[in-house]
Amino acid sequence: MKEKHREGLMEEKRLFFPPTGFSSKAVMRNPEIHELGRDRTKFWDEQGKRLDWFKPWDTVLEWSHPFAKWYVGGTLNAAYNCLDRHLEGARRNKAALIFEGELGDRRVLTYQDLYREVSQFANVLKSFGVEKGDRVTIYMPMIPEAVIAMLACARIGAPHCVVFGGFSAEALRDRVLDAQAKVVVTSDGSFRRGNIIPLKESVDQALKNVTCVKKVIVVQRTGQPVDMQEERDMWYHEVIKNVSIVCPAEPMDADDMLFILYTSGTTGKPKGVVHTVGGYMVGVSTTHEWVFDVKEEDVYWCTADVGWITGHSYLVYGPLSNGATVFMYEGAPDYPEKDRYWEIIERYKVTILYTAPTAIRTFMKWGESYPLGRDLSSLRLLGSVGEPINPEAWMWYYKYIGGERCPIVDTWWQTETGMIMMTPVPGITPLKPGSCTIPFPGVHIEIVDHMGTPVPKGEGGYLVVREPWPAMLKTVYGDDKRYEDTYWSQFTGVYFTGDEAKWDEDGYFWVIGRVDDVINVSGHRIGTAEVEGALVDHPSVAEAACVGRTHEVKGQAVFAFVSLKEGIVIGDELIDELKAHVVLKIGSLARPDDIFLTAELPKTRSGKIMRRLLKDIAEGRAMGDTSTLADVAVINFLKKNIDAQK
Ligand code: WTA
Repeated sequence: MKEKHREGLMEEKRLFFPPTGFSSKAVMRNPEIHELGRDRTKFWDEQGKRLDWFKPWDTVLEWSHPFAKWYVGGTLNAAYNCLDRHLEGARRNKAALIFEGELGDRRVLTYQDLYREVSQFANVLKSFGVEKGDRVTIYMPMIPEAVIAMLACARIGAPHCVVFGGFSAEALRDRVLDAQAKVVVTSDGSFRRGNIIPLKESVDQALKNVTCVKKVIVVQRTGQPVDMQEERDMWYHEVIKNVSIVCPAEPMDADDMLFILYTSGTTGKPKGVVHTVGGYMVGVSTTHEWVFDVKEEDVYWCTADVGWITGHSYLVYGPLSNGATVFMYEGAPDYPEKDRYWEIIERYKVTILYTAPTAIRTFMKWGESYPLGRDLSSLRLLGSVGEPINPEAWMWYYKYIGGERCPIVDTWWQTETGMIMMTPVPGITPLKPGSCTIPFPGVHIEIVDHMGTPVPKGEGGYLVVREPWPAMLKTVYGDDKRYEDTYWSQFTGVYFTGDEAKWDEDGYFWVIGRVDDVINVSGHRIGTAEVEGALVDHPSVAEAACVGRTHEVKGQAVFAFVSLKEGIVIGDELIDELKAHVVLKIGSLARPDDIFLTAELPKTRSGKIMRRLLKDIAEGRAMGDTSTLADVAVINFLKKNIDAQK
């Protein structure tokens, strides 16, 4: 979606009210709820009771700016809340996880089954010396064992660090080392569009000379041959055999770490975002139930990979803590045909679908004949996450997927926020296509100007969170200072999201996008500094500068400007080689769409690369102020040549 387009967004006047029959049956239908949420501590104190606690909390919030402790004095266990507590009554034999592999293989795990497998795997981890507080890296495809491994870690109090399977060996290595993981759980490979992605091979490369990892547990998924290192590597199906199914859930302090998840920021080094047990679980459980209006009989499908926060909060911890039936799919949406998602919805009678705008735009491009060819009448609610959704995509989703009867919840949030922060509550909030509507009850969001002063309705600025919220990150792993500097130092007293937004006369929020050096490619956060680091690592490259440019399907794409070392011959092969190098260093998600080779990059007189101007060029728009440039000729050259290529 075009940025300009988003600027004109507030002119979007269409309003969609909850369909008849939806509101009267909604889980949350109290129109006062946002008002009640104003007393934040009371509100979250109340919501804390939805979980099972081994010991109740004494104080709901201790706020020592910018460090918050939620549910102080309380002890609980996340896996217990996702499993054990559902075993007493009717949910025991209810499907917890319905899985479909890319090749069409199917598995259903009831809550009882999942409990058994998780307990067994927790015992396996313990037998390998994993203790409370030890980190376990999970590098897996979208298969049930990924969820089992996460919950097994949670059960024994070992923080998991899930690394998305699309990251390269080098990216995995950085994350393993930063977390000092003791165990890695992986699979031989994963299926993608009929191909095999060799995950175990990447693990082997990643772990060269890494001493912290003592064991690698390998799930057999594809059956292709892999090297198994003696002593270190074990097959999952072998180590799980005959292991006891009894493993008591470890009582955890509410403030103990549940997991670390790495995300991109403004520097080359990804940040380990730390989430704790108590606040996170209350936050994701409450939001999951109210935002998705989840009922006992629903079949809920979140298409996000477990490697991202959406997978953590809304495929695992939110839905399972609510005893929902979760559908999980391993593969690509166009394999073997472009109607795979719609076939799945028809087959399993999925009632709630949560996906990303980039996917919706892809489906739009493929055409409506694919969804129209399937029975999607089971759907009753749709969700969107990861990037702004443009009104055209919203309307298409509404019409062709939701049959004009399903509310769409456009949910704004971040890895750091842990839980959905702005969203419609579908039985209450009227919808505007392209707006994530209003903050969730108990969440205090504002838009401020560059001085940190809140802007009036009808204006825009920086998106900040004024008050602590339960699922907020605790810190950046091992780096409290980076936590303070990154999030709490731009504006006094508030959390800075990195996003720009506007709010309209009705108080509805319209998120425009990132204002920091983060590019949102297909809903995945890529740090420009990471891609630049990967490019500069190539022997031919002297300097690199990356910006995001608008992309019709992906939202944004990486555009890299690269200057080469003396004597390097410019050629098309070199561009391909540089792209491949980025894939090697980070993963294919960071591959630049465009690389432009240039003798020099535009700099200020003090030598700072002027990214703002590069962005203007990449977007093909008029250039901003060039008066601080050391040499205007450089930028004029770039503009002329790039415009000529278009
Ligand atoms: C963007 C994903 C507009 C935003 C859950 C944010 C959105 C970043 C939306 C976080 C939305 C996410 N509308 N923008 N509904 N949801 N974003 O950490 O820029 O992968 O800062 O978390 O995605 O990305 P992350």
